[in-house]
Amino acid sequence: MVKSVPPKGFVVWLTGLSGAGKSTLAEKLYAFYTGQGFQVEHLDGDKVRSIFPQTSFTKEDRDEHIKRMGFIASLLEKHGVIVIASFISPYSEARHVVRNMCEHFIEVFVSASLQECERRDPKGLYKKARSGQILYFTGLDDPYEAPVGAEITIATEQQSIEESYQQLLQQIEKWNSLFID
Ligand code: ADX
Repeated sequence: MVKSVPPKGFVVWLTGLSGAGKSTLAEKLYAFYTGQGFQVEHLDGDKVRSIFPQTSFTKEDRDEHIKRMGFIASLLEKHGVIVIASFISPYSEARHVVRNMCEHFIEVFVSASLQECERRDPKGLYKKARSGQILYFTGLDDPYEAPVGAEITIATEQQSIEESYQQLLQQIEKWNSLFID
């Protein structure tokens, strides 16, 4: 449970491999804050990309896409919205740019090994990537630069979704209390 009052707007930025658990955790956070009566938006890679299907997976397009989403997140945050962002966001430099755009930025590294993400393969994409149907797939033939300075790391391989979620909520509260003090 959230004990302290969070700052009006803040950005929770979930980064990690496809299948690590970003969207699942983001959806749970979204439901939680909505239930608490806060204004919340969830920006998600798959959803945004379905609106802008021309965004490719080259480094240039991914960086541009992440910076755009960071900009939107910063605008929403300024208007007092809690922003939950779930994007692979594989490049440190782009994540750093987004961090600097936002006022209250909490980077969450949703961590699971490539082997585990591939075992889960919730959308069957690793299988497609292995068979050459998808190119430049993150973790296989495209890089993922794991964060070194993330505020929060959630290791989803070692615990249940519920445990990961509870740990995440608790850690967010810790960071928010620092913002307030
Ligand atoms: S990001 O790298 O630009 O941050 P984003 O989070 O928006 O990626 O979208 C990732 C989603 O796109 C994955 O969860 C997966 O469903 C889909 N996808 C399709 N092709 C690829 C690919 N080559 N690499 C990674 N994800 C891909």
